[in-house]
Amino acid sequence: MKHIVVGVSGGIAAFKACQLVSDLTKKYEVQVIMTENATNFVHPLTFETLTGRKCLIDTFDRNFTYEVEHISTAKWADLFVVAPATANVIAKFASGICDDMLTTTFLACKAPKVIVPAMNTNMYDNPITQQNIQRLAEFGMHMVEPVSGLLACGDTGRGKMAEPAVIEEAIEMLLPVDKPLAGRRALVTAGPTMEAMDPVRYITNHSSGKMGYAVARVARNLGAEVTLISGQCGLAEPYGMKTIQVKSAQDMYEAVTVRAEDSDYIVMAAAVADYTPADVSDEKMKKKDDDLSIQLKRTKDILKSLGERKHGGQVLCGFAMETQNLLENARKKLEAKNADMIVANNLKVEGAGFAHDTNVATLILQEELVELPLQSKEELAGEIWKKLVEIAAKKEGTNR
Ligand code: CTP
Repeated sequence: MKHIVVGVSGGIAAFKACQLVSDLTKKYEVQVIMTENATNFVHPLTFETLTGRKCLIDTFDRNFTYEVEHISTAKWADLFVVAPATANVIAKFASGICDDMLTTTFLACKAPKVIVPAMNTNMYDNPITQQNIQRLAEFGMHMVEPVSGLLACGDTGRGKMAEPAVIEEAIEMLLPVDKPLAGRRALVTAGPTMEAMDPVRYITNHSSGKMGYAVARVARNLGAEVTLISGQCGLAEPYGMKTIQVKSAQDMYEAVTVRAEDSDYIVMAAAVADYTPADVSDEKMKKKDDDLSIQLKRTKDILKSLGERKHGGQVLCGFAMETQNLLENARKKLEAKNADMIVANNLKVEGAGFAHDTNVATLILQEELVELPLQSKEELAGEIWKKLVEIAAKKEGTNR
C-alpha cells in the first residue's frame, strides 16, 4: 500500500479533510499532520480514529517511540497532500519557514506534493497569496484549485476547497508509479450517443460511460495526456484531462476525427449509435391515431474510419458488446475495422456490461486472446492499457 501524508491547516474546510482522509484510508496508508490552529476546527481524535495512527501536531511531543518524527514521516511519504492549505501555510511553504510539525515535515519531504488551497476570496486573490502559489508551482508542486461558490464567511467567490473526490483524483494522477504512457497522447471515447428525432425526443442506449471513463482515468494515471470525448452520461468530468462533451454520433465522429492524427492511442469505448433518424423534424412531432414508423439511416462508423487512416505506431482499440457468439463476432470486428485490439464483453454474463462497476472481458488481438476474470472497470482498464502498451512497443520495434 502506498503511503500518503495529509497535512491539515487551520481553516473551516478542515471538516472536508475528514471525508478525504476517510476515503484515502480505503486505498492507502494515511498519516495526518495538523497545525495547532487546525485542531480548533477538528479534533485530532477524528483523524486518529479514521487512520488508526497518532495525529502529529507538536514537533516537541515527548510521547513517542524514539524517531526524529518529522524526518521519518517525510521519508515514509509516497505523496504529501495539504488540504486545506490556508494562506498562512502556503506563505510559510513558499518561503521555507518551518515552525511546526507540518511545515518542517513538508520541507524535509521529497515526495510529490499536492496543495489544496481554501480561504476567503480576497485572501486568495491577494497578489501576495497568488505569488506564493505561483512560487510553489514553480517548485513543481501541484495545485488543486479552489472552486467558486458561497464561502463560510458569507462572501461569494473563489476560495472553496475542491471536493475530496477531485483531490483523490489528483493524488492518483501524481502518485509515483511506473508511467509507461508519459509523453503519449491518448484519445478515449465514452458513453452513449443521442440521436435526435425532433427537438424533444431522441434515441439512445444504456451505456453509463463508466468503462470509458475508467479507461481515460487509468491512462492519465499512467502518464498520458488524455482527451476524453464523452456522450451525455452525467458522470463528473475526470480531473487532469480535457473532456469534450458531445451528443450525436456525428458530433462524436467530428470531435474524434480532428484529434485522431495527433493521438498515439485511440480507445473507442463509446456506445455509438449505428443508426440515426433519416429526417429530424424542426418542430415537435404531434401524435396521431396510427402507429408511427421512423426511417433510420446509418451513422458513420468512427472506429472503421480510424482504422482506414491509422498511421505508423498508432494503436487503435475498440469494444464489442455482444449477446451471442462473442469471440467470433469480436474477431470479425478486429479485422473489419483494422483495430489492434477489441475488448469483448458479453452483456449476458453476470457482472458484465452497462451500469455495473465490474466487467468480464476478453481481449482480442491479432495473434492472442486474453480471457480476464470478473474485475472492477478500473482493474480492467489497467489490463487494457498493459496490452496496448505492449502493442505499441511491438510496433515501435518493427518500425525501427
Ligand atoms: N463504433 C464506432 N462508430 C459507430 C459504431 C460503433 O466507432 N458508428 C465503435 C464502438 O465505439 C466500439 C465498436 O465500434 O468500439 C463497436 O463495434 P460495432 O460494429 O458498432 O458493434 P455493434 O454496435 O455492437 O454492432 P453489431 O451490430 O455489428 O454487433
